[in-house]
Amino acid sequence: MQRLQAGERAGAESLKAAGEESADEVSGAQPDEAIDPRITYPCYKSFDEFIDVERLKSLDDYITERVKQHLQSQADLQFYTGPFKLDDTSPERPGSRMIYLAQSQFPDSYFDLDRTDIWEPTSASGEFSLLMDFIATLPFKATGRMLIMYDDVQRPVPAHRDHVSTDVCHEFIWFRTNLNKPFYMLNHETGEKRYVESYSAWFDTVNQFHGTDAGVGLTCSIRVDGSFTDEFRKRIPTPAVNRASTPALWASTSA
Ligand SMILES: [Fe+2]
Repeated sequence: MQRLQAGERAGAESLKAAGEESADEVSGAQPDEAIDPRITYPCYKSFDEFIDVERLKSLDDYITERVKQHLQSQADLQFYTGPFKLDDTSPERPGSRMIYLAQSQFPDSYFDLDRTDIWEPTSASGEFSLLMDFIATLPFKATGRMLIMYDDVQRPVPAHRDHVSTDVCHEFIWFRTNLNKPFYMLNHETGEKRYVESYSAWFDTVNQFHGTDAGVGLTCSIRVDGSFTDEFRKRIPTPAVNRASTPALWASTSA
């Protein structure tokens, strides 16, 4: 597909999405492509079997301490859900914050997440060197955007899609060092919510919604985008339609 820079629009295929600074209201846009009949929403693919969960859990205190230092400085960017919220009246910037571990050379475009050549480590990545060492063990041949999302206030992140381009499938791993964050997938047609029970996941960010209930204490998760290794890709089934549903097909056929 043609890549668009932030600020450009393509109707229902608007590339505005989470993480971008300018928020046009296009929340009526809906993915309308057919879905493989084997897929059931809500779903997510746990990656716990592919990563070193014990090593990840061992970073809990380390990451918590450093995130708390960021909390005190109050200098981090606010997390932005993007315009594709389930409820138009819910806040786009619910209050949670982000620490970027990699930054793009270009203005924010959600469709640059996996352009691994344009991302470089931030100074914050130096504060989280043990986390960066862990990220290096993940099944990526190269990484793009990397960020920590956190909040210390008891408040939800509204249910949202990340974008509505069904032909785009971002390869990413969402993970955390503890299970404190009540993070869920939502089938907006049935209202069914499914909470993520694993330490790590890959999920369909387009054809279903996701969000977070209010958590207690500091809640934190990390998302790393990039390109999976060729060897890892061999495990992943490819849907005949709707590339964005790839993680959903995998989740639905490997349960
Ligand atoms: Fe999201």
